Amino acid sequence: MSNDNGVRVTHAAAQAQAAETIASIPSVLSEYSCTLCKKVFMSYSDLKYHYETEHADAVLPVTVKLHVNGRDCEVLVEPQSTLKQTLQFKLGLTGAKEMCNEGACGSCTVIMDGRAVLSCTLLTVECEGKDIQTVEGIAADPKWKPLVDAYCKWDAMQCGFCTPGFLVTAKALLDRNPHPTEEEIKDALAGNICICGTYPRHSTAILEAAAIMAKGGLVNG
Ligand code: FES
Ligand code: FES
Repeated sequence: MSNDNGVRVTHAAAQAQAAETIASIPSVLSEYSCTLCKKVFMSYSDLKYHYETEHADAVLPVTVKLHVNGRDCEVLVEPQSTLKQTLQFKLGLTGAKEMCNEGACGSCTVIMDGRAVLSCTLLTVECEGKDIQTVEGIAADPKWKPLVDAYCKWDAMQCGFCTPGFLVTAKALLDRNPHPTEEEIKDALAGNICICGTYPRHSTAILEAAAIMAKGGLVNG
């Protein structure tokens, strides 16, 4: 299979899977489950009464509204839940990865209100009403195909665990600066760690994607 064919197949599969995952994000809460005894209630006030009467010493979960990858949704989370945990366990978005869980590696990066942020360092309750984009949103949006294609073309990954974080950071950079220099790319990616050492290839891929997107074209093999 040629490199060109490989890029197309990879992106088509990723785009379809990402779109399906986003479409399955639950929009409204239809039931409220007790995190302690797993009893299910049909309203938040019933859940609250249950905690008051059955788990008086426990912390009551809270509801949070988010706008994720273009979809409005509501989640029931424990106050200590991070955005990373909510994306994965409540919304089924597994693209953001957890490597260090302490804000040091960038693998959990998402975009919140236009800014790249570390989802392992944010409490979900801090994100009420925020607009959040994950790597699934980038993969599903045809506008960003050149970026995904360039990453595939230049093999800017080995194990791939860090790659979602790099892609999200790159997207945030290109949103605010569609024509970055190599130095600006390195600066933007400084918080993303790759244990496999793929660093030089990220700049190459992002520079090519920026050039291709400026022309409205596609990456060739
Ligand atoms: S897992 Fe969030 S910065 Fe490392
Ligand atoms: S490709 Fe393996 S950690 Fe970056």
